[in-house]
Amino acid sequence: MILKQIEVKSSLIDEFTNCYILQDENTKEAMCIDPGGDFEKIKEMLEIMEVKLKYIYLTHSHMDHIEKAKELKKSLGGEILISRKGAQNVNNPDINLSKLTNYNLYIEIDSRVDDKDILHIGDIELEVIYTPGHTDDSTSLYCKSENLIFTGDTLMYMGIGRTDFPTGNKKEIKKSLKKLFMLPDNTFVYPGHGLPTTIKDEKER
Ligand SMILES: [Fe+2]
Repeated sequence: MILKQIEVKSSLIDEFTNCYILQDENTKEAMCIDPGGDFEKIKEMLEIMEVKLKYIYLTHSHMDHIEKAKELKKSLGGEILISRKGAQNVNNPDINLSKLTNYNLYIEIDSRVDDKDILHIGDIELEVIYTPGHTDDSTSLYCKSENLIFTGDTLMYMGIGRTDFPTGNKKEIKKSLKKLFMLPDNTFVYPGHGLPTTIKDEKER
């Protein structure tokens, strides 16, 4: 598996977000996670990697994670995926937070994912883990064979996601963290913002 991390900046707010591209070397199939800004930067990388873009996966409905999904699909194809609740929330500017800017963001979702769903990128298998709390639509994406998980804004290096935005819930994020901390200690964690970490390091903080 090839994994690229691109730091992108939303055009709507002053915030850097991690966009990830993962690709199966054999089939060239790929998934782009959270294309939250800098469309040209993401597109350039996808073209260099000669990807067949299968999925555009959104870890949650916040604008800094979803902003360029539409453009990416238009230019390189791929199905836009988010959780069931996320499919509604992406089209609610109060919840996707775009109302805070002068631009109301709407996105058409192609498929909804649920807890325990399995997605395939070539031979790579990824499991959806429902991890509400930062928003009620947050999911993480676990790849057992590669020993890594994409956690969006649920679990980050030395921190967890805020719960004071619409649909956020402190109790729920605590439950979600418990779920994530059941994963093997040496699982690499790739968050929506900031540096990568491991389950062990975050569990111990
Ligand atoms: Fe967020």
